[in-house]
Amino acid sequence: MKDKILRELYEKKGEYVSGEELSEKYQVSRTAIWKHMNALKKEGYVIETTHKKGYKLIESSGKLIPEALKKDLNTVEIGNKIIYFDTIDSTNNYSKRIAKDAAHGTVIISEEQLGGRGRLGRNWISPKGEGIWMSIILKPNIPPTEGMKMTQIAAAAVCNAIRGVTGLEAFIKWPNDLVVNGKKVCGILTEMAGELTRIDYLIVGIGINANNEGFLEEFQHIATSLAKEKGEKVDRKTLILRLLKEFEGLYEDYINQGTLEKTLAIIRNYSAVLGRTILVIRGEQRLKATVLRIDEEGLLEVKYEDGKRELLMSGEVSVRGEEGYI
Ligand code: BTN
Repeated sequence: MKDKILRELYEKKGEYVSGEELSEKYQVSRTAIWKHMNALKKEGYVIETTHKKGYKLIESSGKLIPEALKKDLNTVEIGNKIIYFDTIDSTNNYSKRIAKDAAHGTVIISEEQLGGRGRLGRNWISPKGEGIWMSIILKPNIPPTEGMKMTQIAAAAVCNAIRGVTGLEAFIKWPNDLVVNGKKVCGILTEMAGELTRIDYLIVGIGINANNEGFLEEFQHIATSLAKEKGEKVDRKTLILRLLKEFEGLYEDYINQGTLEKTLAIIRNYSAVLGRTILVIRGEQRLKATVLRIDEEGLLEVKYEDGKRELLMSGEVSVRGEEGYI
């Protein structure tokens, strides 16, 4: 009921909605409506109450609720359906639970994740209301070998969105991290289900440290947030809207053209590793290498100290800077 009332307020944002009208429409008492309004106020919504006129939504709480996003979302398929949680284990886990029956482009967002997951079985700390913790369910008609390209598309989309919305100089640490001033601000976890020759669905999980204030001591030297780097809070809604738009554009380009051209231009232009000396990490092994190029499939070509060259695939290795994170 509370969600329905919120939707009504959103639809008429800036105008009064009468308690009587709501109580008739939803067949509940006016006291019940009043209680729901109070609950919304406690959640941070600014709602003006005027005797005889009713309730008026003045300001949303800054939460990423679908009504607030969809009003300004300018995409065709990505985000057509947005599922929102105040708290969840992990948006990727939830996506897996519903993916079979979900439409292509469904977006799942949560204010908080209690079991957020990163790559290589790591945890992803996802404090309430601070970041963007979201997953996109995709059902492309491509072979599973191409699935990892979604990570590249997402990285390019996040990079453009961060640059466009915050003005910060974000770079892509191949293949799935975004860094600002040498520290990580975003990670991408792409997961796939299907058969050897066919994808059932892909889940692109994106975690952006937007307004996080503190980081555990062990992460302070490698992680930061957009707000910390910019010195002011970032509007999460604007960032998501831009990100979904950028993602759809690059995704469509890839599906229609069959090549990653536009994505590659971005990941090469804003690469944090191209031309640099890095450490290639495979399990316990760390090898120094120079990054030569990102090829047309998005693979990273490196040259080791002994002169040998290798094309690295995302998923099998991690890369780090020689001294720091990058
Ligand atoms: C990484 O850098 O290791 C990847 C981090 C991915 C985190 C996001 S947050 C939303 C989605 N849900 C998860 O549990 N993980 C991804």
